[in-house]
Amino acid sequence: MIRPLHRTLPLVALALIASQVCAQAADTPSVTIALDEVKAHIDPQFYGLMTEEINFAYEGGLYGELLRNRSFKGEAGLAYQADTPIYWSALGAAQIALDHSVRLNRALDLSLSLDATGASAEHPAGIANTGYWGVPVRANTPYRASFFARAQGAAGPVTLSIVDKDGHAVASGVVSGLTDTWQRYDVTLRTGAVAPSPAATFTLTTTTPGKIWLQQVSLFGPTYGNRPNGLRPDLMNKLAAMRPGFIRLPGGNYLEGDTFGQRFDWKATLGPVEQRPGHRSPWNYWSTDGMGLLEMLEWSQDLKAEPVLAVFAGYALNGQHVSLAGDLAPFIQDALDEIEYVTGDAATNWGARRIADGHPAPFGLHYIEVGNEDFFDSSGSYDQRFSAFYKAIKAKYPNLRIISTAPLSATPSQRPDVIDEHTYAFGGEAEMYGRVRDYDLRSRTEPKVMVGEWATHDGWRMPTLRAALADAAYLIGLERNADLVVMESYAPLLANLSHIGGGAHDNSVQWAPNLIGYDALNVYGTPSYHVLQMFGSNRGDDVLGTVAGNVPSFTIGGKTYPSLYWLATRRQSDGRVQIKLVNRGTHAQPLRITLRGAHFVADHGTLTVLAGKDPGDTNSLDKPDAIVPLTVPVGGLSREFVRTLPAYSVSVLDFEAR
Ligand code: AHR
Repeated sequence: MIRPLHRTLPLVALALIASQVCAQAADTPSVTIALDEVKAHIDPQFYGLMTEEINFAYEGGLYGELLRNRSFKGEAGLAYQADTPIYWSALGAAQIALDHSVRLNRALDLSLSLDATGASAEHPAGIANTGYWGVPVRANTPYRASFFARAQGAAGPVTLSIVDKDGHAVASGVVSGLTDTWQRYDVTLRTGAVAPSPAATFTLTTTTPGKIWLQQVSLFGPTYGNRPNGLRPDLMNKLAAMRPGFIRLPGGNYLEGDTFGQRFDWKATLGPVEQRPGHRSPWNYWSTDGMGLLEMLEWSQDLKAEPVLAVFAGYALNGQHVSLAGDLAPFIQDALDEIEYVTGDAATNWGARRIADGHPAPFGLHYIEVGNEDFFDSSGSYDQRFSAFYKAIKAKYPNLRIISTAPLSATPSQRPDVIDEHTYAFGGEAEMYGRVRDYDLRSRTEPKVMVGEWATHDGWRMPTLRAALADAAYLIGLERNADLVVMESYAPLLANLSHIGGGAHDNSVQWAPNLIGYDALNVYGTPSYHVLQMFGSNRGDDVLGTVAGNVPSFTIGGKTYPSLYWLATRRQSDGRVQIKLVNRGTHAQPLRITLRGAHFVADHGTLTVLAGKDPGDTNSLDKPDAIVPLTVPVGGLSREFVRTLPAYSVSVLDFEAR
């Protein structure tokens, strides 16, 4: 969207808008764009998202549940588990404990027992939960609370409240009629004109003496598109703005688990949420699996993106792997069932199951990824595993494209359709600039590539402008090679920044950098997010030929790299041209742009610029908009024109040219 021009635009914006056609020195850097030379076609799914349960990306992030450890199974099996339900505390005269003998069902095979025999009108007894480092409060907002309960004799009524940090209830609801059999109870809590806060607490209390067993105590605020069991709207809006073509799911390490028993067992993530046992994520915290396979598929659909479905392939992070062909059969069948769940109709077992789960229409699906990072499997079993999955999937679904997660040399028995390559630049910007031309040099006889995980690291922190500039240059290198590189997804995507350095099991961030940061109430995009948003929403269909001259350079650690990066694309639907430019230089850089073979060039277009004074700058929860793109109309375009790129900037110029 073009922001309206305004008198108070900063000077930098006015400088961008002003026609920049002026006399330039003969050695001005230049880019000539050949409108008549199409070098590659860009897959409409080129820009995507990589996600998994890491950094509290789903639980405590995208997934709308606001209470932590709603099923009381959290961290079960981890060494530090106590008998008391972790993340829940007793209020007033209450005594609480985990009760393994009173179970809601086989999946949620324990409960929280709330002994409120000491409760009175003056001394309510109950439980409290502070969510994921705070329950968020917004003004005039409905919250849906629910829980399963069973009581010893008569009990209740119980009051459910959201309590602000000063101890005042900002929303409350009452439930009565608890009996000695398990039942679900629902109540809406509604805030009034309260101040927004990320730091509230949820409480469930009673003033009547008695004993109550609880399970699946849940609180949701409004969700994206009002989906039940849905997703956090502010995060979804950020993702939607990126216009992703695909979502690679469910991981990542999260697909594999530390052991086979901790893999993403998709069948255990279906159906009513209280029937899902949950499991431990390899990133060291509990997943309720409220964000199950169907929720992930619907999430893709809501973003108009397709899933790139990674199937468990008989290899876990601890090295456990299937080495005998016969032992692979159940895992292959599981993958075939999963594909049927995603794409099948009512006549198929698993298609019928998806319909019963509430989603009649099949999902679009073109890519299946076999495992994750199987280049780590030093046993050499991936060749056999990949080949067996490939043949079984192709036999039933010949049109699906199968992605390998190891180099071509690891799968001599079966050539993959696509290879997922992970290209994190742990060494920082210099390493990433050094990779910009990697795919220019790759033989075109090799399989297509998905760069399924990549990022420029700049220390253990969220991306700086410095990292974002290198990310933009790398992306230009990927898109320029769109005949070979069919998809890309930066990783990781999401990070809850509420509690960094909280110890092994209470740290909200396990990996940095990440594209988007948030706490319970606020969300912001990093400079790298803005680069991906700018590029993803300025897609072309054709990569046009370019020739550059007098390209300037800069030096890091004694090595010299170009400081200017460019890419020209054209959209087929409206013939508009997009020029993506990166200036890593320390000063403003004039650039002569020539359109070769053009018989018409509109004299105006749209320019989006992300820039900052210091490459070490970044955005944060406190300063979410320190570095954000500015979109303005520009004039003075023609078959040849000069534009000056600000220091440390990424620009996208979009205009009509034929
Ligand atoms: O993106 C974080 C992790 O990096 C992924 O889970 C894994 O695939 C890779 O090693």
